[in-house]
Amino acid sequence: MTPNILLLEPMMPDVEAHLDAAYTVHRPYLVKDRAALISQVGTSVRAIVTGGQTGASNELMDSLPALEIIAINGIGTDNVDLERARARSIHVTTTPDVLTDDVADMAIALLLATARRICVADRFVRVGRWPGEHMPLATRVSGKRLGILGLGHVGRAIGHRGEGFGMSIAYCNLQPVAEVGYLYRPDVLALARESDFLVVAASGGPDTRGLVNRAVLDALGPAGILVNVARGSVVDETALVAALAEGRLGGAGLDVFANEPHVPQELWHMDNVVLQPHRASATVETRRAMAELVLANLAAHFAGRQPPSAVV
Ligand code: 8YV
Repeated sequence: MTPNILLLEPMMPDVEAHLDAAYTVHRPYLVKDRAALISQVGTSVRAIVTGGQTGASNELMDSLPALEIIAINGIGTDNVDLERARARSIHVTTTPDVLTDDVADMAIALLLATARRICVADRFVRVGRWPGEHMPLATRVSGKRLGILGLGHVGRAIGHRGEGFGMSIAYCNLQPVAEVGYLYRPDVLALARESDFLVVAASGGPDTRGLVNRAVLDALGPAGILVNVARGSVVDETALVAALAEGRLGGAGLDVFANEPHVPQELWHMDNVVLQPHRASATVETRRAMAELVLANLAAHFAGRQPPSAVV
């Protein structure tokens, strides 16, 4: 018998084929009665494979007494209770480094798309408005002031890209980062006041919940643009929708949301907003590299070795 694993969201077909060859894979997202599946196989499940946003609830962990490893196909650990896992000696693994560049690329893509009105202009052409109308001018990106909230690997990669656009860069982080020459602001409100564009690259979780609130959005101001490629929880989404609706914020480029896959309907109709369905790491190259890490972590664990990218 190969080890029983729970796969909580789909992966690339060839990766799933690898999983199927090595494990007995149960897929709760494919069945109508998820609870019935868990009560049927739960006692024998030794591994969970999940996404960063999907994570694994405490309720699920508690219903799997034989659980040994949670392999996250992502870098976010905010949706897994790490202390609970540690207390039960359950490994938690992530896919560090391999998605950094794609997430930073997405941040810049969202910034350019929002400021330069790329999606609005695309629609303008597609519906045949070009021959008869002029589009209003857009906002310049190069040379502006870029604020980065969270200067981890992704934040730094966004900074590098910002340098290429001749931007002056400042950041807010728990601590100053010695290797970078960017301006350090310990307070996100001060950072927003001094930024044309604020990019959220901080981890999710209780420490960052609602950090980008009404005051921060107002400090960014009616010409400012917010980009979020981290977690919806870092931004007070109600305050964001209100700031955009009332013209207190210039625009937003959003890959992540508070209650995915649900996006506030008000945002659907705003031309100064660019929306993505949590796609920052969703390239063939990166998802393959992430999957290889997931497979390597599982293989190491079931061979009795330490998983290579365990955080717990
Ligand atoms: C992925 C993520 O989209 O890394 C993370 O934490 O949220 C994203 O890279 C996700 O893990 C895949 O479901």
